[in-house]
Amino acid sequence: MIRITQLKKGSKSAVKELIQLVTELRRDTSEHKGSVSDLKNIVTNKNAALIVAKDNAHIVGMGTLYIVGKIGKRVGYIEDVVVSSNYRGQGLGEKIMRALIAAARKNKLGTLFLTSHTNRPAANNLYMKLGFELVETNPYKLKL
Ligand SMILES: CC(C)(COP(=O)(O)OP(=O)(O)OC[C@H]1O[C@@H](n2cnc3c(N)ncnc32)[C@H](O)[C@@H]1OP(=O)(O)O)[C@@H](O)C(=O)NCCC(=O)NCCS
Repeated sequence: MIRITQLKKGSKSAVKELIQLVTELRRDTSEHKGSVSDLKNIVTNKNAALIVAKDNAHIVGMGTLYIVGKIGKRVGYIEDVVVSSNYRGQGLGEKIMRALIAAARKNKLGTLFLTSHTNRPAANNLYMKLGFELVETNPYKLKL
């Protein structure tokens, strides 16, 4: 049975399964790593929520909400939404997203932001289906 739940504890096995998922998302192989301490920092952070899809004990999908408090408003950023390739097309991505949106509402956030490359049609369709609107802005990054 597959359950959608918030991960509250970090463990070696959870890190291993999350990294496996992340490899399906991130092209930069230098980012295909992580430690139990990284995971504990996220799951114990009250300004973050890591939602996972679990097939019995195994994590087969994930998505993370990061809350940022700004002057006069609190907003959320959704990152690292991915469902294991064997489990796609059965509603898990949508359920993970709905759980992230529910967590954002519970935290009384004003706006939720995310980005998705145009070469990810499944993800873009999913976000539009859930009501996300395209923002006319230029995303920049500085590699450090
Ligand atoms: C994007 C992703 C998380 C969707 O997960 P999923 O569990 O397969 O999606 P769902 O089954 O919940 O589908 C929900 C909606 O997503 C869209 N969608 C899902 N798969 C799709 C596909 N192959 N083609 C087009 N749209 C698709 C549809 O709008 C679908 O709603 P519908 O079934 O009513 O048409 C998954 O494809 C994935 O992990 N992709 C690789 C990583 C990635 O691109 N992550 C997003 C980074 S921004």
